[in-house]
Amino acid sequence: MRLLFLGDIVGRTGRNAVIERLPGLREAWKLDAVIINGENAAGGFGLTEAIFDEVVASGADVVTLGNHSFDQREALVFIERAPRLIRPANYPKGTPGRGATLVDLKNGMRLLVVQVMGRVYMDALDDPFAALERELAACPLGLGADAVVVDVHAEATSEKQALGHFADGRASLVIGTHTHVPTSDHQILGHGTAYMSDAGMCGDYDSVLGMDKEEPIRRFIQKTPGLRFEPATGEATLSGLAVETDDRTGLAVKIAPVRIGGKLSQAEPDFWLE
Ligand SMILES: [Fe+2]
Ligand SMILES: [Fe+2]
Repeated sequence: MRLLFLGDIVGRTGRNAVIERLPGLREAWKLDAVIINGENAAGGFGLTEAIFDEVVASGADVVTLGNHSFDQREALVFIERAPRLIRPANYPKGTPGRGATLVDLKNGMRLLVVQVMGRVYMDALDDPFAALERELAACPLGLGADAVVVDVHAEATSEKQALGHFADGRASLVIGTHTHVPTSDHQILGHGTAYMSDAGMCGDYDSVLGMDKEEPIRRFIQKTPGLRFEPATGEATLSGLAVETDDRTGLAVKIAPVRIGGKLSQAEPDFWLE
Protein backbone atom coordinates (compact mmCIF):
# COMPACT_ATOMS: atom_id res chain seq x y z
CA MET A 1 0.00 0.00 0.00
CA ARG A 2 1.11 3.55 -0.66
CA LEU A 3 0.69 5.91 2.30
CA LEU A 4 1.35 9.62 2.68
CA PHE A 5 1.44 11.28 6.10
CA LEU A 6 1.56 15.09 6.27
CA GLY A 7 2.34 17.09 9.42
CA ASP A 8 0.33 19.83 11.12
CA ILE A 9 -1.50 22.13 8.70
CA VAL A 10 -0.88 25.68 9.95
CA GLY A 11 -3.33 28.38 8.89
CA ARG A 12 -4.59 29.40 5.48
CA THR A 13 -1.28 29.01 3.64
CA GLY A 14 -0.97 25.43 4.90
CA ARG A 15 -4.56 24.67 3.92
CA ASN A 16 -4.11 26.16 0.48
CA ALA A 17 -0.98 24.09 -0.13
CA VAL A 18 -2.86 20.90 0.80
CA ILE A 19 -5.92 21.79 -1.27
CA GLU A 20 -3.84 22.78 -4.31
CA ARG A 21 -1.29 19.97 -4.30
CA LEU A 22 -2.80 16.90 -2.65
CA PRO A 23 -5.22 15.90 -5.44
CA GLY A 24 -2.32 15.86 -7.93
CA LEU A 25 -0.04 13.91 -5.57
CA ARG A 26 -2.76 11.33 -4.90
CA GLU A 27 -3.04 10.74 -8.61
CA ALA A 28 0.66 10.92 -9.57
CA TRP A 29 1.80 8.64 -6.75
CA LYS A 30 -1.33 6.40 -6.85
CA LEU A 31 -1.74 6.84 -3.11
CA ASP A 32 -3.95 4.38 -1.22
CA ALA A 33 -4.25 6.49 1.92
CA VAL A 34 -3.44 9.99 3.13
CA ILE A 35 -3.33 11.00 6.79
CA ILE A 36 -2.89 14.65 7.81
CA ASN A 37 -2.60 16.40 11.15
CA GLY A 38 -5.07 19.30 11.25
CA GLU A 39 -4.72 20.68 14.78
CA ASN A 40 -3.53 24.13 13.63
CA ALA A 41 -5.58 24.45 10.43
CA ALA A 42 -8.03 27.11 11.66
CA GLY A 43 -6.04 30.33 12.11
CA GLY A 44 -3.29 28.29 13.80
CA PHE A 45 -5.59 27.00 16.53
CA GLY A 46 -7.81 23.95 16.13
CA LEU A 47 -10.07 22.82 13.32
CA THR A 48 -13.54 23.85 12.14
CA GLU A 49 -15.98 21.52 10.41
CA ALA A 50 -15.81 23.53 7.16
CA ILE A 51 -12.00 23.23 7.08
CA PHE A 52 -12.15 19.52 7.99
CA ASP A 53 -14.54 18.96 5.06
CA GLU A 54 -12.17 20.85 2.72
CA VAL A 55 -9.16 18.78 3.79
CA VAL A 56 -11.11 15.53 3.31
CA ALA A 57 -12.38 16.71 -0.09
CA SER A 58 -8.79 17.42 -1.16
CA GLY A 59 -7.86 13.77 -0.52
CA ALA A 60 -7.25 13.08 3.18
CA ASP A 61 -8.64 9.78 4.45
CA VAL A 62 -8.04 10.55 8.13
CA VAL A 63 -7.31 13.82 9.97
CA THR A 64 -5.60 13.79 13.36
CA LEU A 65 -5.59 16.51 16.03
CA GLY A 66 -3.49 17.05 19.19
CA ASN A 67 -3.22 19.47 22.11
CA HIS A 68 -5.14 22.05 20.02
CA SER A 69 -8.01 19.58 19.31
CA PHE A 70 -10.72 21.71 20.85
CA ASP A 71 -9.40 25.26 20.41
CA GLN A 72 -12.36 25.74 18.06
CA ARG A 73 -15.25 24.83 20.36
CA GLU A 74 -17.36 23.46 17.49
CA ALA A 75 -14.92 20.53 17.30
CA LEU A 76 -16.39 19.26 20.59
CA VAL A 77 -19.61 18.63 18.67
CA PHE A 78 -18.72 17.78 15.07
CA ILE A 79 -15.97 15.32 16.05
CA GLU A 80 -18.78 13.02 17.19
CA ARG A 81 -20.17 12.82 13.67
CA ALA A 82 -16.77 12.67 11.94
CA PRO A 83 -15.44 9.10 12.16
CA ARG A 84 -12.38 10.07 10.08
CA LEU A 85 -11.29 12.71 12.59
CA ILE A 86 -9.40 11.58 15.71
CA ARG A 87 -7.94 13.19 18.83
CA PRO A 88 -5.39 11.63 21.24
CA ALA A 89 -6.51 8.24 22.60
CA ASN A 90 -5.10 9.02 26.05
CA TYR A 91 -7.39 11.98 26.78
CA PRO A 92 -9.56 11.45 29.88
CA LYS A 93 -12.58 9.17 29.67
CA GLY A 94 -15.60 11.14 28.49
CA THR A 95 -13.66 13.42 26.11
CA PRO A 96 -15.68 13.84 22.90
CA GLY A 97 -14.59 11.93 19.80
CA ARG A 98 -12.31 8.92 19.48
CA GLY A 99 -8.59 8.22 19.63
CA ALA A 100 -8.50 5.64 16.85
CA THR A 101 -10.41 4.95 13.67
CA LEU A 102 -10.61 2.01 11.27
CA VAL A 103 -11.47 3.13 7.72
CA ASP A 104 -12.35 1.16 4.60
CA LEU A 105 -10.16 2.47 1.79
CA LYS A 106 -11.18 2.68 -1.87
CA ASN A 107 -8.75 -0.18 -2.65
CA GLY A 108 -10.78 -2.48 -0.37
CA MET A 109 -8.15 -2.53 2.37
CA ARG A 110 -8.58 -1.38 5.95
CA LEU A 111 -6.49 1.32 7.61
CA LEU A 112 -6.27 1.84 11.37
CA VAL A 113 -5.07 5.26 12.52
CA VAL A 114 -4.31 5.88 16.20
CA GLN A 115 -3.14 9.08 17.87
CA VAL A 116 -1.50 9.31 21.28
CA MET A 117 -0.15 12.41 22.99
CA GLY A 118 3.13 12.54 24.90
CA ARG A 119 3.42 13.64 28.52
CA VAL A 120 6.94 15.08 28.59
CA TYR A 121 6.66 18.91 28.63
CA MET A 122 2.96 18.54 27.86
CA ASP A 123 -0.35 18.18 29.72
CA ALA A 124 -0.61 15.42 32.33
CA LEU A 125 -2.63 12.80 30.46
CA ASP A 126 -3.15 9.05 30.76
CA ASP A 127 -0.22 6.79 29.84
CA PRO A 128 0.25 6.94 26.03
CA PHE A 129 1.97 3.51 25.99
CA ALA A 130 -1.01 1.84 27.67
CA ALA A 131 -3.43 3.63 25.34
CA LEU A 132 -1.44 2.57 22.27
CA GLU A 133 -1.20 -1.01 23.55
CA ARG A 134 -4.99 -1.12 23.93
CA GLU A 135 -5.63 0.16 20.41
CA LEU A 136 -3.05 -2.13 18.76
CA ALA A 137 -4.38 -5.15 20.64
CA ALA A 138 -7.98 -4.35 19.65
CA CYS A 139 -7.12 -4.25 15.92
CA PRO A 140 -3.82 -6.03 15.17
CA LEU A 141 -1.88 -5.36 11.98
CA GLY A 142 -2.51 -8.16 9.48
CA LEU A 143 -5.66 -9.32 11.27
CA GLY A 144 -7.91 -6.33 11.96
CA ALA A 145 -6.16 -3.87 9.67
CA ASP A 146 -4.04 -4.02 6.49
CA ALA A 147 -2.09 -0.93 7.58
CA VAL A 148 -1.68 0.77 10.96
CA VAL A 149 -0.52 4.38 11.31
CA VAL A 150 0.29 5.90 14.70
CA ASP A 151 0.54 9.69 15.14
CA VAL A 152 2.61 10.46 18.26
CA HIS A 153 1.77 14.05 19.16
CA ALA A 154 4.60 14.93 21.51
CA GLU A 155 7.32 17.42 22.35
CA ALA A 156 10.20 15.14 23.41
CA THR A 157 12.02 13.09 20.77
CA SER A 158 12.95 10.55 23.47
CA GLU A 159 9.30 9.80 24.16
CA LYS A 160 8.56 9.62 20.43
CA GLN A 161 11.42 7.18 19.80
CA ALA A 162 10.37 5.05 22.76
CA LEU A 163 6.81 4.83 21.43
CA GLY A 164 8.19 3.98 17.97
CA HIS A 165 10.20 1.04 19.26
CA PHE A 166 7.29 0.04 21.52
CA ALA A 167 5.10 -0.39 18.44
CA ASP A 168 7.84 -1.76 16.15
CA GLY A 169 6.52 -4.73 14.17
CA ARG A 170 2.93 -3.90 15.13
CA ALA A 171 2.41 -0.74 13.06
CA SER A 172 3.16 0.22 9.46
CA LEU A 173 4.22 3.71 10.52
CA VAL A 174 4.86 5.58 13.78
CA ILE A 175 5.36 9.29 13.11
CA GLY A 176 5.64 12.33 15.34
CA THR A 177 3.71 15.58 15.05
CA HIS A 178 3.45 18.77 17.16
CA THR A 179 6.95 20.24 16.93
CA HIS A 180 6.39 21.49 13.35
CA VAL A 181 10.00 20.89 12.26
CA PRO A 182 10.78 17.79 10.13
CA THR A 183 13.48 15.50 11.50
CA SER A 184 15.91 13.59 9.28
CA ASP A 185 15.82 10.34 11.27
CA HIS A 186 13.23 8.61 9.05
CA GLN A 187 14.02 4.89 8.94
CA ILE A 188 12.50 1.42 8.97
CA LEU A 189 12.95 0.00 12.48
CA GLY A 190 14.23 -3.53 13.14
CA HIS A 191 10.83 -5.22 13.06
CA GLY A 192 9.50 -3.38 10.02
CA THR A 193 7.78 -0.23 11.28
CA ALA A 194 8.52 3.02 9.43
CA TYR A 195 9.49 5.77 11.85
CA MET A 196 10.14 9.53 11.84
CA SER A 197 10.39 11.65 15.00
CA ASP A 198 8.54 14.58 13.47
CA ALA A 199 6.70 14.98 10.18
CA GLY A 200 7.16 18.75 10.18
CA MET A 201 4.27 21.05 9.27
CA CYS A 202 2.34 22.09 6.22
CA GLY A 203 3.00 25.79 6.75
CA ASP A 204 5.28 28.74 6.05
CA TYR A 205 8.78 27.95 7.36
CA ASP A 206 9.76 31.66 7.29
CA SER A 207 8.17 31.86 10.74
CA VAL A 208 8.33 30.62 14.33
CA LEU A 209 6.55 27.24 14.11
CA GLY A 210 4.27 28.57 11.38
CA MET A 211 3.39 31.81 13.17
CA ASP A 212 4.37 35.37 12.23
CA LYS A 213 7.80 35.92 13.76
CA GLU A 214 7.36 39.27 15.51
CA GLU A 215 5.05 38.28 18.37
CA PRO A 216 6.91 35.07 19.35
CA ILE A 217 10.21 36.97 19.37
CA ARG A 218 8.66 39.74 21.46
CA ARG A 219 7.26 37.23 23.98
CA PHE A 220 10.70 35.67 24.47
CA ILE A 221 12.17 39.10 25.19
CA GLN A 222 9.35 40.81 27.10
CA LYS A 223 7.25 38.80 29.51
CA THR A 224 4.18 40.98 29.08
CA PRO A 225 0.87 40.35 27.31
CA GLY A 226 0.88 41.27 23.66
CA LEU A 227 -0.86 40.51 20.42
CA ARG A 228 -2.38 37.23 19.27
CA PHE A 229 -0.22 34.73 17.41
CA GLU A 230 -1.14 34.92 13.72
CA PRO A 231 -0.15 32.29 11.13
CA ALA A 232 2.58 33.41 8.72
CA THR A 233 1.29 33.91 5.18
CA GLY A 234 4.24 33.02 2.91
CA GLU A 235 4.16 29.94 0.67
CA ALA A 236 3.83 26.73 2.67
CA THR A 237 5.98 23.62 2.44
CA LEU A 238 4.02 20.36 2.47
CA SER A 239 6.06 18.26 4.88
CA GLY A 240 5.75 14.61 5.81
CA LEU A 241 6.67 11.06 4.88
CA ALA A 242 5.85 8.69 2.02
CA VAL A 243 5.63 5.01 2.96
CA GLU A 244 5.12 1.88 0.90
CA THR A 245 3.99 -1.20 2.82
CA ASP A 246 3.97 -4.89 1.98
CA ASP A 247 0.32 -5.82 1.32
CA ARG A 248 0.70 -9.17 3.08
CA THR A 249 2.42 -8.09 6.31
CA GLY A 250 1.42 -4.43 6.43
CA LEU A 251 5.01 -3.53 7.37
CA ALA A 252 7.07 -0.83 5.65
CA VAL A 253 9.33 -1.64 2.71
CA LYS A 254 10.19 1.83 1.35
CA ILE A 255 10.12 5.30 2.89
CA ALA A 256 11.07 8.79 1.77
CA PRO A 257 10.65 12.27 3.21
CA VAL A 258 8.31 14.67 1.44
CA ARG A 259 8.94 18.43 1.33
CA ILE A 260 7.13 20.25 -1.49
CA GLY A 261 6.91 24.01 -2.07
CA GLY A 262 7.95 26.89 0.15
CA LYS A 263 11.35 27.53 1.70
CA LEU A 264 12.66 24.06 2.68
CA SER A 265 14.90 21.97 0.45
CA GLN A 266 12.63 19.88 -1.75
CA ALA A 267 12.21 16.11 -1.32
CA GLU A 268 9.98 13.54 -3.00
CA PRO A 269 9.99 9.73 -3.19
CA ASP A 270 11.67 8.48 -6.38
CA PHE A 271 10.21 4.96 -6.07
CA TRP A 272 6.69 5.89 -7.20
CA LEU A 273 7.63 7.50 -10.49
CA GLU A 274 6.76 5.38 -13.53
FE1 LIG B 1 0.78 21.61 15.82
FE1 LIG C 1 0.43 20.28 19.02
